[in-house]
Amino acid sequence: MGRLVCVSNRISLPRKSAAPGGLAVGILSALKRTGGVWFGWGGDTTEQDPPTEPDIHIRDGVTYATIELRQSEYELYYNGYSNDLLWPLFHYFLRGMRYSNEERDAYESVNRSFAQKLSPLLQPQDLIWVHDYHLIPLGRLLREAGVKRPLGFFLHIPFPNIEMLRVLPTYAELLRDLTHYDVIGFQTENDLKGFHSGIEHLFGAEAIRSDGRIRVGDRVLRAEVFPIGVDVDSMQAEAIAAMETDVVKRMIDSLMSRSLMIGVDRLDYSKGLVERFSAYQQFLETYPDNIGRITYIQIAPLSRTDVRAYADIRKALEQAAGRTNGRFADTDWTPIRYLNRNFPHGTLSGFLRAANVGVVTPLRDGMNLVAKEFVAAQDIDNPGVLILSTLAGAARELGSALLVNPYDTRAVSHAMQTALSMPLAERRERHMAMLEVVKRNDISSWTNRFVEALEASQRDQSRPRVLAS
Ligand code: G6P
Repeated sequence: MGRLVCVSNRISLPRKSAAPGGLAVGILSALKRTGGVWFGWGGDTTEQDPPTEPDIHIRDGVTYATIELRQSEYELYYNGYSNDLLWPLFHYFLRGMRYSNEERDAYESVNRSFAQKLSPLLQPQDLIWVHDYHLIPLGRLLREAGVKRPLGFFLHIPFPNIEMLRVLPTYAELLRDLTHYDVIGFQTENDLKGFHSGIEHLFGAEAIRSDGRIRVGDRVLRAEVFPIGVDVDSMQAEAIAAMETDVVKRMIDSLMSRSLMIGVDRLDYSKGLVERFSAYQQFLETYPDNIGRITYIQIAPLSRTDVRAYADIRKALEQAAGRTNGRFADTDWTPIRYLNRNFPHGTLSGFLRAANVGVVTPLRDGMNLVAKEFVAAQDIDNPGVLILSTLAGAARELGSALLVNPYDTRAVSHAMQTALSMPLAERRERHMAMLEVVKRNDISSWTNRFVEALEASQRDQSRPRVLAS
């Protein structure tokens, strides 16, 4: 296999605290296995012209190549086009989206500068794997820069159906840009169907071939489902080791034998935290025996704080947590511990293992790796119960979780009660079924399947007539 070069908007540098979000966890676990390069924004902005060459750090077989963004690019490309338009649209939050041509231009020009800075680093045998919605045009721009190697693209978030996508003034460009890649990966069948609906709309039904490949002009591309997984072995080992650390022991002692329910999410409106807090309040009202007997810890590191919708959701959550605590807390008990901070991955795995219930109730989510990490971190002899939104990609695989519609707060509060009173035998049975799935489709199988598809795509381009109908 050639060298793997992963490209994403943000990269997670060693020694800095882990960047939150499934993408960083997924790419890092993949690259730790294969070695290679991770190219992207290091998180710094500058008022001057950023350096033309990336900063290079090498650690544990992985080369980190980071670039800086201009402050104006950060505002228009990152806060604007990526997170105030594509993110809400792809998560079906139409009311949250805002289109601006100036932001669209910045999106194109930042992608162009990614292509210019990346191409000189590439070697003849590299396999290039671009990640997520910030970098959709990058494939086209790398081709324009003369890159001939196979180009893959993986979308970590949902892909909407054409009827939704058409709201975007530039939807046709976006779809065309995707066809410059050789392999396009989605989290679920639903996302792939959404993409097919767009291809059909733009190029006609005949563009989707009976073998599932897509033909546009003289190019053939593969669009497939590659649900991202977690590194189960290392998660299990981390979680076991974390139980012996001071920070996890102190957290467990502080519970004073109460049950623990936990949520770990970036502070994002798509994660359904307001609805979850309200379901928890309903749970305490409806099942008052739990008052004083359960602690709900919600870890929600701040995210995209310069985007208005994120500032709004932060305020709403502070109010909701304050309301529930004000109403139910006692001198020696706080119903919700709400923390806007991140923890090292190992510590989080210990918290997940210590929990009786994991609550993952996004209003829409591409996959949600916390759900899979919760399963991997459990003690198989005495596992906790996962409450999972049907609107997370992970629900397609984790059918043995307690599945809920996150908008139905009564159903979520009922699931909390069911989870807390579930007999050990049922907990084990559900956990075993989920662990098997999570193990079968772990991070190495995700990486291997994608890389194999990328390698195979070279053959598609060299023998296009074999695929012609
Ligand atoms: C999600 C996205 C990623 C993103 C991450 C963190 O997981 O799919 O592309 O990197 O959130 O968001 P941020 O805006 O902080 O990079």
